[in-house]
Formats: sequence, C-alpha cells, structure tokens
Amino acid sequence: MTKSDVLLGLQWGDEGKGKIVDVLTPEYDIIARFQGGPNAGHTLEFNGIKHVLHTIPSGIFHPTAINIVGNGVVIDPVIFKKEIDALVKMGVDVKAKLVISKRAHLILPTHRLLDAASEASKGKNKIGSTLKGIGPTYMDKTGRNGLRIGDIERHDFKEKYKALVEKHKLLLSFHQFEYNLAELEPAWFEGIETLKQLQFVESEHYLNNAMASGKKVLAEGAQGSLLDIDFGSYPFVTSSNTVCSGACSGLGIAPNRIGNVIGIFKAYCTRVGSGPFPTELDNEVGEKIRQIGREFGSTTGRARRTGWLDIPALKYAIMINGVTELMMMKADVLSDFDTLKICTHYNYNGKVIDYLPYDLDPKYLTPIYEEVKGWKCDLTQFTKKEQMPKELVDYIKYIEKAVSTPITIVSIGPDRKQTIKR
Ligand code: GDP
Ligand code: IMO
Ligand code: MG
Repeated sequence: MTKSDVLLGLQWGDEGKGKIVDVLTPEYDIIARFQGGPNAGHTLEFNGIKHVLHTIPSGIFHPTAINIVGNGVVIDPVIFKKEIDALVKMGVDVKAKLVISKRAHLILPTHRLLDAASEASKGKNKIGSTLKGIGPTYMDKTGRNGLRIGDIERHDFKEKYKALVEKHKLLLSFHQFEYNLAELEPAWFEGIETLKQLQFVESEHYLNNAMASGKKVLAEGAQGSLLDIDFGSYPFVTSSNTVCSGACSGLGIAPNRIGNVIGIFKAYCTRVGSGPFPTELDNEVGEKIRQIGREFGSTTGRARRTGWLDIPALKYAIMINGVTELMMMKADVLSDFDTLKICTHYNYNGKVIDYLPYDLDPKYLTPIYEEVKGWKCDLTQFTKKEQMPKELVDYIKYIEKAVSTPITIVSIGPDRKQTIKR
C-alpha cells in the first residue's frame, strides 16, 4: 500500500499550486482535489499556453494521470461545464481522465445568490468572497440539506433540488435580495447533463484500492492554510479545511496513509479579499510587487494585496500541516529590489513574539523585520541550481533555518520549465 502525498498552499492562496502540481504530475498516477470549489483558480503554463483551472485537478494535461474531484469539493455545474468544454477544445480526453466523487456537494444557483446577499448584508465588514456560492453550499452540507453528485442519478433529483431552492427563496426574501432565478437555471441543468457524461465514483474506495495496488496519489489543495475555516484569520477565511487534515476528510484517506506534505509558498505574501495581513505593503513597494508578479486574481481579476514574507505565519502553517518539504515560488518577482525585508517576529501588545497569535488585528500586532540583500539579477532563464546568485541562496537558507524545513524547489517563472530542483 502506498501513501498519498499532499500539496497545499501555506499562505492566503495563489501560491502557485497549479503550476507545481502540473510539474509533479509525471511522478504520480492520480491527482485528487480534496476541498474548495470554483473559488480556486489554479494557473498552468506550458508550450506557450496559459490555462486556469477552477474545480478540475491540475494533473489533467498529462497523458496518463487520473484526476479525481473528491468528496470534500463543492461543484458548480455551470463553471464545471465551461472548464470541461475548454479542455475538450484543447484535445484533452476528459471522459477518460476525470472522475468525480458521488459524495461531492453541488453548488446551486441559489447558493450563489445567497453568497451575494450575505456579502451585501455585511457592508464594509464583507469577507471579500469570490461569490461562487462556497459558504452557503458548505453551510447546507453541515446543515444536512445539501445536494450531492450521487443525487443526480436518483429518481427524485428534481424534487430534492426544488425543495432546497424553496428553502433558499425564504432566506433570500429575508435578505430582501432581488434576483431572477429563471435566468440562471437553464445553464445549471445543462451543466448537470454534462456532469452525467462523466464517471461518478465512490472515491474513498477508488483511492484506497489504487493505493493498495501501488498507485501513487497526490492530493491537491486549494486556497491556503491562512484561509482555513479553523486555523485561518477567521472570519476572513473560506468555508473548508484547507490544511492537511482536509485531505483525509475530503478524500477518505486515513491519516496514517499520508506521505509527504509539500508546502507551497511565495517568496513574499499576497492576499485577495478582506482580512488582516500583518506584512502588507500598502505603498509603492507593494504596487511594484503587484505589477512585476502580475498579482491579479485568477478567478475574479481583483488586485491582490502584497507584502513581505512572514516567517511566524509560515511556521504556523508548517506546524498545522506537518509539512515535510517546501517549494518557494515567484523568486523572480523580487529580482529588482536592492534589499528585501523578512518578518521574523511580531510586536504583540508590547511583547516580542515569534509565533502567529489568535488576534492579527493591527491594533495589537505589528511585524518586526530583518533586512537582507536582494540578488538584483534576472533568474528567469536559469535551469540549474548552480546558477542561482549568492544572495538568493542566502535568502533560501535563511528561510530553511528559520522554519527548520528544506526547500526542494525554487520557481523562477510561471512556465513548467522555470522550475529549479535543489
Ligand atoms: P494557485 O491558486 O496556487 O494555483 O496560484 P494562481 O495560479 O492563482 O496564482 C499564481 C500565479 O503566479 C499564476 O499566474 C502563475 O502563472 C504565476 N506563477 C507561478 N509560479 C511563478 C513563478 O515562479 N514566477 C512568476 N513570475 N509567476 C509564477
Ligand atoms: P486558490 O486555490 C486566494 C479568498 C477570497 C476571500 C475568502 C473567502 O486559487 O489559491 P470564498 O469565495 O471562499 O467565500 O472567499 O477566501 N479565496 C481565495 N484567495 N486564492 C484562492 O484559491 C481563494 N479562494 C478563496 O478572496 O477572501
Ligand atoms: Mg489561485
């Protein structure tokens, strides 16, 4: 029996998970998404093609790997159909390479409306949700009202759908939210027809049988550890467990069957949406990182907030996830800075601390930085670790020492090829 490796983001999402899953897929037989839904946007670049995936795992472009959408994922048939159509156009044999858990929950058009209504009612305290219906769908899952992929095959699917929509209509009227459901439903049911053409599986059996027969599995996380429903900067988080334990509950893999835990982080930090961000650079430096790093959301196009690398936050994510190896992304984006700052500690209510505390409110918490020398050279054409400038190697070693975890890959551009193994 093999163990399943897990790859996940250690910051606030968009660390470059899609790129790295694509790079690592040749080493695996199965790639499995375990949580989140179309709030995710995972970008892959190869052979001059740039592609963004939302629900479908990032192993889909490789010729042999099977891609599984696990039970912990929430699926919007409308977005799913668009993703499938785009892949089919590119010649991907989706039917042969993609399977879906019967236990995955469906995002209804009314879930999206409820997401919008909830955000509107929060006013300036809004979460900054991607408005894909994620929160309301997980609420119905834990509230035991949800519709699942397996229900599509049942005789009473339409009735179940209608019963849930009636509940949602009551909630929407409570919010005094205006909408036109009749406009949204045809595309949703078209998406259901597309879904029906794919293989629905009991993914817990599928994966455990595969591991028993020696197949190698990589679980692909969405969002990031600091957006986790339990351990993120609540309430400014997403509605699922983005951390490693989410791979167990979101796929049906037992904790003792987890192998390597690969943590992905950017050489700096970004966040999109509201919520605390201790090292945020709300100035020209932050704007420079945003422009060079093209830090605009893959799903919503929103400008991402940017800031320096935050070691206490990284250590926290490594601890919660049991990270065994790190991969540092977007090193090339910092190539034009004379000096770089790294947050090593916080001042928390007048006390210097080296861990991420409960309350990240800037009223109580301010970052303490160390300044290091930048590398000031273009990295994007490098192919070997020996080419890396001394200052970059020092930056990497500094982080490795601070978090006691090895960095095994350094990414120096969005393309598959711009990846340096150490
Ligand atoms: P994900 O959600 O974690 O998969 O990340 P996203 O795809 O949302 O955002 C990462 C962005 O950075 C994408 O536009 C990638 O193409 C890009 N990217 C990934 N790695 C690198 C890198 O090393 N350098 C640069 N410049 N861009 C990168
Ligand atoms: P990937 O997988 C970055 C953020 C939203 C918002 C909060 C809640 O591409 O890294 P939600 O739509 O879940 O209700 O939004 O979480 N968010 C992400 N930020 N990357 C993501 O996914 C995200 N998915 C959700 O911006 O602040
Ligand atoms: Mg993303």
